[in-house]
Amino acid sequence: MGISNSLTITQPDDWHLHLRSGELLQRVVPYSAQHFGRAIVMPNLQPPVVRTVDALNYREQIFAALPAGSHFKPLMTLYMTEQTDAEDVRAGYLSGDVAAVKLYPAGATTNSDAGVKDLTKIYPVLAVMEEIGMPFLVHGEVVDADVDIFDREAMFIETKLIPVRKQFPKLKIVFEHLTTKEGVDYVQSCAENTAATVTPHHLVINRNALLVGGIKPHYYCLPVAKRESHRLALRAAVTSGDQRFFLGTDSAPHFDGAKEAACGCAGIFNVANTVSVVAEVFEQENALDKLEGFLSLHGPAFYGLPVNTAKLQLTRNEAALAAPAKLVLPDGEITHFDPMMDLHWDVSDISTAD
Ligand code: DOR
Ligand code: ZN
Repeated sequence: MGISNSLTITQPDDWHLHLRSGELLQRVVPYSAQHFGRAIVMPNLQPPVVRTVDALNYREQIFAALPAGSHFKPLMTLYMTEQTDAEDVRAGYLSGDVAAVKLYPAGATTNSDAGVKDLTKIYPVLAVMEEIGMPFLVHGEVVDADVDIFDREAMFIETKLIPVRKQFPKLKIVFEHLTTKEGVDYVQSCAENTAATVTPHHLVINRNALLVGGIKPHYYCLPVAKRESHRLALRAAVTSGDQRFFLGTDSAPHFDGAKEAACGCAGIFNVANTVSVVAEVFEQENALDKLEGFLSLHGPAFYGLPVNTAKLQLTRNEAALAAPAKLVLPDGEITHFDPMMDLHWDVSDISTAD
């Protein structure tokens, strides 16, 4: 199949994004607004975004940080705790102010201490979410000290997700940042109301990127990258055209000093080149015809939202694109995701349809 040098697609959305707050928010949000129409904004701030009123305050901060004239729309999420108020969740969703609730198993990742230890404690909230059609976004890793970090996603499916799914058969569940073949198989075995986001980096790196030739903290994220067979399963899933898989960058900026440390934190800042990276992956898999579905169509279909009216123009250059320069802030620098391969798809133009 010949490769066309230019592609016009519906403007993508990012169904899993960390925007942080304060000055960091101001500096990172323009990268998202440049390419994406909307993003599901993660609530793991310090303190977390727990109630609808917190989400509204955070949304105001995000609007204030957007570049002038931007149409980028943040879709807000609440951070599930064992004390989450089901009626606040219901009101937030029905008013359109909150799009979803995110589960962090306590201790699983950055700012997850306030998360959930006992899933049965949140069953009353899940019952309301099932009733009103509100998506439940899941960080799918168990946290037990005796479970190997590479097995934590597969173990979560068996011991946590399957029981929740059985209890709430109609609940909309998004398995966030899927990293394993077991996860792909599970999602594919489910009905349409189970979906998964997939990050650009998990389509590109396996655990060797993190560990071979020296430890590479900029490839450390959670869930951690797995062995090659899992990366290939993720690639097959997203390029199959299956509607249950859509993009969630999990872009999670941390200062270099916090990552390049004896106890480096988890997170990859990837939004600057996500569209180019994903296009490169789909080209490698001879699946450019499936790119628009993964980036721009499957997510809105799952969330019950219209697709974006704006378009994105992708142009293939023979020469490799220049890598984005480090982000420099007064408090430190932030390194962009390096996909360890040449990128050729330039995101050259956004034309607004209306
Ligand atoms: O790598 C990660 N970074 N995984 C997460 O689940 C959280 C995120 C962050 O907020 O830094
Ligand atoms: Zn995340």
